[in-house]
Amino acid sequence: MKKRIVAGNWKMNLNKEEATTVLQGVASYVASNNMPADVEVVICPPYPYLSLACELLKDSDVKVGAQNCSHEAKGAFTGEVSASMLADLGVTHVILGHSERRKYFKESDALILKKTRAAMSAGLNVIFCVGEDLHTREDEGQYLFVKNQLKDSVFMLSSSDLASLVVAYEPIWAIGTGKTASPEQANEMHYYIRDQFAENFDQPTADKLTILYGGSCKPANATDLFAQANVDGGLIGGASLKAEDFTGIIAATL
Ligand code: 13P
Repeated sequence: MKKRIVAGNWKMNLNKEEATTVLQGVASYVASNNMPADVEVVICPPYPYLSLACELLKDSDVKVGAQNCSHEAKGAFTGEVSASMLADLGVTHVILGHSERRKYFKESDALILKKTRAAMSAGLNVIFCVGEDLHTREDEGQYLFVKNQLKDSVFMLSSSDLASLVVAYEPIWAIGTGKTASPEQANEMHYYIRDQFAENFDQPTADKLTILYGGSCKPANATDLFAQANVDGGLIGGASLKAEDFTGIIAATL
């Protein structure tokens, strides 16, 4: 069954008290609503709050994700966190290839592929981000841009790895800008991504792939975005920092 996912990426935000409030608010919303069997809710806090999140959510259906992991399994890599350490805590997902990591930390497709392999070896599900910048969109180069991001990374995986892969299309021009891709723009790109997976793997594998939209997704636009045939949920930044906003987006899956 193809999953629909609403995942919150807190980025480098919130303190411990605020984190606790959001985690409890989302857990209580999920517990008191009849969530469809195909819907998964994931919260990705910064590293220091992962233990807290795993503890607070241990009896909840809300899953915990990390925002990064090392490409190495262990060793002398000061400041790094391995995928198996995350899995040890109870973390089930990890966001990789986010445009902020590509831009500020110069992560290449090759490195992101190594991280993806490390995460999958540790049993984590990977939320793999792709998406073009404004200049590329204005030049109508978005399809080639995304195709190249996939070609040099996840298309190198084996088709059995794809069971633990989720793709998130996050156009950079829509991230944190308040400028959302229209439901049609999102659906067109998601259709294209699915089609690329069908070409590189096979149609049944592509049909099962969960493809999320990210970029200024909020309660007010989530219903229209999620109504698109190829939009299987969202990766939410700013609107995941308040339980009320994030649950308003989860409500769009009910
Ligand atoms: P915003 O929802 O704040 O635009 O961020 C999207 C994002 O980057 C999620 O990973």
